[in-house]
Amino acid sequence: MAREDLVSAPAALGEQLAATRKLTLDLAAPLSDADAAIQPFPDASPAKWHLAHTTWFFETFVLRDHLAGYRPFDKRFAFLFNSYYEGEGPRHARPRRGMISRPSLDDIRAYRAHVDDALQGALPSLPPAALELIELGIHHEQQHQELFLTDLLATFAENPIEPAYGELPPVACVAVEPLSFHAGRDGVVEIGAADNGFAFDSERPRHRVFLQAHAIANRKITNAEWADFIADGGYATPALWLSEGWDWVRREGIIAPLYWYSDGSEFTLGGRREIDHAAPAAHVSYFEADAYARWAGARLPTEAEWEDFVSSADPNLGNQLDEAGAVAPRSGGGLFGDVWEWTQTSFASYPGFAPVEGAVGEYNGKFMCGQFILKGASCATPRGHSRASYRNFFPPSARWQFTGLRLARDA
Ligand SMILES: [Fe+2]
Repeated sequence: MAREDLVSAPAALGEQLAATRKLTLDLAAPLSDADAAIQPFPDASPAKWHLAHTTWFFETFVLRDHLAGYRPFDKRFAFLFNSYYEGEGPRHARPRRGMISRPSLDDIRAYRAHVDDALQGALPSLPPAALELIELGIHHEQQHQELFLTDLLATFAENPIEPAYGELPPVACVAVEPLSFHAGRDGVVEIGAADNGFAFDSERPRHRVFLQAHAIANRKITNAEWADFIADGGYATPALWLSEGWDWVRREGIIAPLYWYSDGSEFTLGGRREIDHAAPAAHVSYFEADAYARWAGARLPTEAEWEDFVSSADPNLGNQLDEAGAVAPRSGGGLFGDVWEWTQTSFASYPGFAPVEGAVGEYNGKFMCGQFILKGASCATPRGHSRASYRNFFPPSARWQFTGLRLARDA
């Protein structure tokens, strides 16, 4: 929302806040306390931690800083549930989040209720700066809803009895549109978020970039196409790989996307099932996406090529974005939304980048090193969370998110 809208309609913000907070609780409803405490690997977090950390974010940056007389639910939680904010002092070591059995999941639910009550009670009298932080907190919590699902998938994938988080629709036998390339615009175009409406600081300011002549694919690469890459020895051909990627493939013994089994099945949030060959390939790293593109005689798009393509390709883009609902395995024929799409662009600041003031200024800016931009949205992205200017980012070896690719090439 624009700042004037936040101030004139705090009730609308309150509704958005309540709906977002409820969705997180709904996502956690099927979990036992034990499910919610596991940390499958150091970069992922326990489900319980996501529930608590998103609450800490509101308690710290809104209630503590803007509500006179607010008493924290438990002062010790600041150490436990601060993620990476140096400005908020020392914190529990990230790789050890899975060691925490208490507070219990019910204690965390009580923490959430305490903070939610305080936020809703304070909303009508909060200053504009605090309302903007609530809006940031909503989008922050939505990011954690996606991480909640991808971290839980990694947790259940560790378990030999192959638990299912929920029901997924059966594998669909759909015809896949033939791959084709469309000329992108060349010359000077604009990318980045406009001044109105919510966007993260890293999406601004909107600015001009120059695009060379290029073409971009009409759709993402499918599992069937990925299987061809494997069958053709893609994972065993060093000439296809960046040096760092080839070292990674050999060191980690990578031979297929993260959750694929050699018998043609894959692990999903719905449990183990036959690989859906028509679905976009997912759970591949930047290194793999880059190698695939080279094998296909193409390359990954740049962030600007991708953003200009989807922004100019379809005037109904906003509607298509809304199709990206949580845990829905498909978003129909939408331009994007099933998997995040790797680009060849490193996460760096736009000209004129201005981080948010205060400790929340650490949100994006300090990660602008060693990460690649992903565009679009995935099947785990909450409805309404993404937009064409959205800049997701992960290190090149990360693949536990729903990450795939679209090809591009020089014209
Ligand atoms: Fe966070």
